[in-house]
Amino acid sequence: MNAHTTYQQSDLMSRLKWVQEHGDLNGATAKRADNLHRLFLYPAMMVPITQSLIIEALLEELPDNALAIDPYMGSATSLMSCMEYGLGVFGQDINPLAVLIAQAKISSFNTELITDSLNELMLCIKKDISNSVNINFPGIDKWFTKQVQIDLSKIRRNIQNIKNKDIRKLFWVIMSEVIRIDSNDRTSTFKLHQRADEDISKRIVDVIGDFEILCKRAILDINLFRDKLDERQLIKNNIYIKPHSICWGNTAEKINSDLKFDLLISSPPYGDNLTTVTYGQHSYLQLQWIDPMDLDYLIDYDYLKSTQEIDRQSLGGRINSKQIAISLSETLNNIPSLKAFYDSLPDTERPLYNKTISFIQDFERSLSVIIRSMKDKAFYVWTIGNRNVNKREIPNDKILIDLMRNNGIELIFNVERDILNKKQSKRNRSSKTMEKERILIFQRR
Ligand SMILES: C[S@@+](CC[C@H](N)C(=O)[O-])C[C@H]1O[C@@H](n2cnc3c(N)ncnc32)[C@H](O)[C@@H]1O
Repeated sequence: MNAHTTYQQSDLMSRLKWVQEHGDLNGATAKRADNLHRLFLYPAMMVPITQSLIIEALLEELPDNALAIDPYMGSATSLMSCMEYGLGVFGQDINPLAVLIAQAKISSFNTELITDSLNELMLCIKKDISNSVNINFPGIDKWFTKQVQIDLSKIRRNIQNIKNKDIRKLFWVIMSEVIRIDSNDRTSTFKLHQRADEDISKRIVDVIGDFEILCKRAILDINLFRDKLDERQLIKNNIYIKPHSICWGNTAEKINSDLKFDLLISSPPYGDNLTTVTYGQHSYLQLQWIDPMDLDYLIDYDYLKSTQEIDRQSLGGRINSKQIAISLSETLNNIPSLKAFYDSLPDTERPLYNKTISFIQDFERSLSVIIRSMKDKAFYVWTIGNRNVNKREIPNDKILIDLMRNNGIELIFNVERDILNKKQSKRNRSSKTMEKERILIFQRR
């Protein structure tokens, strides 16, 4: 149902209440084909319908030509929902694969050209009889059988020959999804974890066949999204008519755009990647195969240095115990909810939370970076969950409210949602799977 027609005349609070009471915030009706969502199964993706309902409720409060930002963009679920409503979009992420996925999603709408390129690509791949393997890295034989290496090399060589960069990027992303399903890595965890030998020897995988099927499915999904934009006159010559830009960026340091934004819509990491969701590790095998020439030129670190490097560069990835000792009391004094949590811990347990403190300090730093890029009356829509560390719940929601208040920005709406469709880290030694998260909406008073 279109919420907008139901509450057209009402004020913002009534519209948000309507969404809370009648909207499908849990995503029970979400379709996998929506908004190119299944192009690559990135970890902990938001649910498009949840974000869309919130954006629709906020729409009347936003100026014409409003600009939205997701500074922890992941695979751009939130930004795709913003595009449905004609907002200008900007996103950045520290993970090079997330950036590539988002770039492919927002710029590849010419399905006639994509279909022609696919037909040509498949002909070249099928004619390619070489058995050479074009890449090498430590552990390649552990993660890929010889035949999979040969077939991926055929796909890789022939994608490299395509002239159109946007189309190459789309095919790299689809090849990444093939790697997710056809490598020897288990699909049940985000951490790299090899399948059992018996499973590997029994499995029959058809890399080239899977690639073709997924490309055809992607073309159907792109058509669906393009039609949605077309209906709202948001697309011209196969290009989204509003400003749209995606780049690599480390949000703890800098927003790589000079624009000022009217809306932030994001789900940030809920803790350091290594103990929550290993976004980087989940992208490591794919990034070995993608031509670095097609990744964002801004990337400023060696993302292939180890399986853990992306996660180490991410929020809370590097703990500096000396720094924590110096700054702990200041951090606790600034954040009353964190202080209450920390004070409740037995002395012996406190060191176990150094990683959590380090993550919160990084997040606090990133928040001041983000707020500098926001307009004064901007809305902030954060989806956040309270994860468990060593069997204790970290009050991420209250911490966020404190941090925003420290910047003069107040909570105006707070709603809980059940996590039904968000693909979570199911096996995580230090935190049990979360079942709820909160959508917190803020604005400067
Ligand atoms: C929950 S996901 C984002 C989901 C996304 N907002 C959406 O709508 O689907 C969190 C993301 O934060 C990114 N991240 C972690 N540390 C970062 C940093 N310092 N700068 C930018 N992105 C970072 C991770 O790579 C991951 O993609």
